[in-house]
Amino acid sequence: MDQTLKETLLGSIRTIPDYPKPGILFRDITTLLGNAKAFRRAVDELVHPYAGMKVDQIAGIEARGFILGGAVAHQLSAGFVPIRKKGKLPYDTVHVTYSLEYGVDEMEMHKDAITSGQKVILVDDLIATGGTAEGAVKLLRGMGADIIAACFVIDLPDLGGRKKLEDLGVTVRTLVEFE
Ligand code: PRP
Ligand code: ADE
Repeated sequence: MDQTLKETLLGSIRTIPDYPKPGILFRDITTLLGNAKAFRRAVDELVHPYAGMKVDQIAGIEARGFILGGAVAHQLSAGFVPIRKKGKLPYDTVHVTYSLEYGVDEMEMHKDAITSGQKVILVDDLIATGGTAEGAVKLLRGMGADIIAACFVIDLPDLGGRKKLEDLGVTVRTLVEFE
C-alpha cells in the first residue's frame, strides 16, 4: 500500500487514552468514517485483492465491523452476515464465548446464515488480542465456511492477534498498525 494512503488512514484515526478502562489507548475509527476520503480509500483498499473474485458472504463483527463490512459487501456484490453480541439476533443461533483485551463476551450468528462451502471474508475495524476474530472464525468454520481472509483496518501487533489467526490457518490483511 502506498505511503500517502497509510498516512491518510493513520491521520484520520483518533486515539483516546484510558477508554474504556485505564491503560487502554482506544483507537477510534469514527473519525475515519466521518472523513469521506479516508472512509472510501479504506474500503477500496480492503476490497481490491478480491475484485472480480467470487465471494459469497462478508461476515462483519458487531459493531464497527458492520459499517466496514457492509461497504465491502456492496463493492464485491457479496451478501452480508452479521456476527452479533449475545441476545441481539431474532432467529435460532450458533454461539461462542471469546476473550477481549478488556473482558470476556459471547457472540452469535444465525444458524442458517452460511451454507457449507461458501467463500467468506471476515471484516472488522481492528485486531488486538485476536480473541474476537478467533471466536468469529470458529463460528464460521463450524458452519462450513471457506474463509478466504480476515481483513481489518487496524492491527495492534503487540497484542498478537494476527499471529493467533495465522496459527489457525487464516490469511490476515491489515491496513495500518499502532504499536
Ligand atoms: C473491538 C473491535 C474488535 C475487537 C478487537 O470491539 O471492534 O471487534 O474489539 O479486540 P480483540 O482482537 O482483542 O478481540 P469491541 O469488543 O470493543 O466491541 P464494539 O465494536 O461493539 O465496540
Ligand atoms: N478493541 C480492542 N482493543 C482496542 C483498542 N485499543 N482500540 C479500539 N478497539 C479495541
